[in-house]
Amino acid sequence: MLHGKKIILGITGGIAAYKSAFLVRLFVKAGAEVQVVMTPSAKEFITPVTLSALTGKPVVSEFFTANTGSWNSHVDLGLWADAMVIAPATACTIAKMATGVADNMLVTTYLSMKAPVFVAPAMDLDMMNHPSTKHNLDLLHSYGNHIIEPAVGELASHLVGKGRMEEPENIVKALDDFFSSCRDLAGRKVLVTAGPTYEKIDPVRFIGNYSSGKMGFSIAEECAARGAEVILVSGPVSLTCHNSAVKRIDVESAAQMLDAAVGEFSGCDAAVMCAAVADYCVANQASHKIKRETDDVPVIHLQKNKDIAATLGASKRQGQVLVGFALETDNEIDNAVAKLRRKNLDFIVLNSLRDPDAGFISDTNKVTVIRSTGEKLPFATKPKSLVAKDIVDIIVHDYLNEK
Ligand code: CTP
Repeated sequence: MLHGKKIILGITGGIAAYKSAFLVRLFVKAGAEVQVVMTPSAKEFITPVTLSALTGKPVVSEFFTANTGSWNSHVDLGLWADAMVIAPATACTIAKMATGVADNMLVTTYLSMKAPVFVAPAMDLDMMNHPSTKHNLDLLHSYGNHIIEPAVGELASHLVGKGRMEEPENIVKALDDFFSSCRDLAGRKVLVTAGPTYEKIDPVRFIGNYSSGKMGFSIAEECAARGAEVILVSGPVSLTCHNSAVKRIDVESAAQMLDAAVGEFSGCDAAVMCAAVADYCVANQASHKIKRETDDVPVIHLQKNKDIAATLGASKRQGQVLVGFALETDNEIDNAVAKLRRKNLDFIVLNSLRDPDAGFISDTNKVTVIRSTGEKLPFATKPKSLVAKDIVDIIVHDYLNEK
């Protein structure tokens, strides 16, 4: 989708600027034309020579070209581009963009931009957490810019936290998603549940499961990329959502997930139940840490959690689409069909733990979609992002646009 697209890559002075060369490579490989605009301090981290060699275009950094005196027109750049990406975006540049401090070529180009702008912040975790940075990013978001959230990991300071510039592959994917989305979910609202639930035993222990949340997050991102407003109700996971159209509600227990999902469902056109919800919670939850040195081994009494999908299924309106997942180890089809009926789903996505490429942790999945009519659609093993696309295609083409 990036083929033939004209992209301005704005580079600012942060250590993550060394990754800009990889980013340019990926854009060029995808068929895009790239014009680099650097701040003067970015040149301390990566040389213009490297970047102009990769883009095949002179890097723009100053208002005037020193030896000829010719003007570098930020206005022309703003009209030329199909998108502008600022990666890495330092706290300083973010602040200048938020407040219109046009004291360098990059910010003047940004202010002249007619095309969508993507901002990939990169900074130390305390800078990232500072109220002024958060406020400035909120301002940029409110101006319609797309924020590519930084990842959590080791930072240049060797501290660990949120602030690493998103990897070049994911920045390219964010733009690709933007351009490839046919926006066929524009004006629609979709609820997605994802991840595991944790059921407390005492203040420090819980019963959980191995769900990573990857499938649910992929579906949420796919729906958002296609123009939907998404409510993502997530159990405890270590994932970040990159699309600002996704409103994330973090929960811990099945009861909290039920409350959040029930609260949102009536306003939604579709709901996809990806979460691995605990079937039971602890009836005799201890309010203090259970100690080892007691006479008796503690006994945990379980009680049934409510079925979230079935609760939504019971209140489903005409025109609403409800999708469930079934992860089975045996008797797969019969079990999945029984769940589809019990929960009043429109279709269920079956994956079997007997398939080595399917399941909780893996980045791939192999699914069979079973409709309420009994029709079965088997799919090949694919990355979860492409499985998400298949599922959303079915929701859009066979249900939402059908009704
Ligand atoms: N589900 C739910 N709420 C629950 C249990 C399950 O919303 N309390 C949803 C899951 O998100 C999934 C579908 O129901 O979409 C099937 O979940 P699964 O755990 O496979 O089925 P269960 O009904 O819990 O049956 P079992 O554990 O006996 O296989």
